[in-house]
Amino acid sequence: MAESITITDNRTGESIEIPIVDGGVAATEWEKLLPGVWFYDPAFMTTAAAESSVSYIDGDAGKLEYRGYPIEQLAEQSTYLEVAYLLLHGELPTRDEFDEWVHEITYHTFIHENVRKRFLEGFHYDAHPMGILVSAVAALSTFYPEAKHIFDPEIRYKQMIRLIAKMPTLAAAAHRFSVGMPFVYPDNSLSFPANFLSMMWKTAEPRFDANPALARAVDVLFMLHAEHEQNCSTTAMRVVGSSHVDPYSACAAAAAALYGPRHGGANETVIRMLSEIGSLEAVPDFIKAVKEGHGRLQGFGHRVYKNYDPRAKIIRRVAYDVFEVTGKNPLLDIALKLEETALEDDYFIARKLYPNVDFYSGLIYQAMEFPLEMFPVLFAIPRTAGWLAHWVEMLDQDTKIARPRQLYTGQPRRDYVPVESR
Ligand code: CMC
Repeated sequence: MAESITITDNRTGESIEIPIVDGGVAATEWEKLLPGVWFYDPAFMTTAAAESSVSYIDGDAGKLEYRGYPIEQLAEQSTYLEVAYLLLHGELPTRDEFDEWVHEITYHTFIHENVRKRFLEGFHYDAHPMGILVSAVAALSTFYPEAKHIFDPEIRYKQMIRLIAKMPTLAAAAHRFSVGMPFVYPDNSLSFPANFLSMMWKTAEPRFDANPALARAVDVLFMLHAEHEQNCSTTAMRVVGSSHVDPYSACAAAAAALYGPRHGGANETVIRMLSEIGSLEAVPDFIKAVKEGHGRLQGFGHRVYKNYDPRAKIIRRVAYDVFEVTGKNPLLDIALKLEETALEDDYFIARKLYPNVDFYSGLIYQAMEFPLEMFPVLFAIPRTAGWLAHWVEMLDQDTKIARPRQLYTGQPRRDYVPVESR
């Protein structure tokens, strides 16, 4: 028998039976019985805002799959560019498809000289690189005005290539500008992650060859951050994209959502927390303070995962590969002790609080000498693939413009009073 629920309106005694499909019930059916009565669900805690086939999370089991492929297998065997192809196309590429994809991305990494010379250089010298990135992505829409033709398949595809290709260039440019270093042009002979590291760190050498272990670590971190279903920034992408604006403007909105400390800024907060704790001896007192309601254990807990975040497990392994090259981040021991203490503590056990993706990623970035301000930027580069995959999916689903309702709690109608009489 098909599964369903029955809702009864106790005011009238009328009922409606609604089938449960893919774990959800259609709110439009509810509306038939109760027109003008809205679901009250701030922060969309219990609302499925989309049907999506891009990624799957089992929060209780701690599982994440992109297009059906477990994240562990992708992190082990794939590359960020292959994962970006998978997210956007739904399938892994053949050898020829992949070669063409890599070629296309590689040959769209340059940014217009005016973006660099006139636009980026217009920022204040100490501008936050994420603020620069958000604005630069939005500005790209003015350089590619054809991007507004979002239903032309060729034009749409071209903008997706441009966005994925230019994100590292803009990100590195934002960093170089904020530290007063000259811009480094992309090097088409390098892989995607190695090129990014070259644009970040190259100084006087004719060619910057990143340490392969570090380039691989960046590639793995990019894969792990590429997609995470209806998170805050992806929801922003879908909501803004539903107005049919061009993809650069929608991506800028998504990147702005990622800027916030509750989303892309959390790994920076983890580093600040570990530095403040300062020593292994201080860990028990810190945990005690968290349990008493004084702040949170940053990098722990997740709206969806009620188990160990599978990305955190992989990142923990990658951290050791990176530390082989860079030397151990001195904050690692404090992080390990915190994790061990929290995982044995009833407070964290009862609330199912486990390390999330941000608990260890900041330690890696810091060991690789990325400044803290670059952490959300490092997140935005790969998440662009996920944003675009959802954007395309939404356009193909021909969704309506996102426009929720509200429960009005303000003043009843009243008459305007001139200022002299108030
Ligand atoms: N430390 C201590 N207590 C916590 C924590 C934490 N990190 N996270 C949740 N709790 C407690 C919270 O106080 C509440 O307890 P009680 O029931 O006694 O009031 C309970 O656990 C449920 O918390 P919640 O705030 O209702 O959960 P949420 O789903 O709204 O929040 C979260 C999810 C990620 C915002 C939260 O766990 C948090 O603030 N974590 C720290 C920040 C962090 O690591 N953020 C990165 C998230 S992953 C990256 C991304 O997806 O962008």
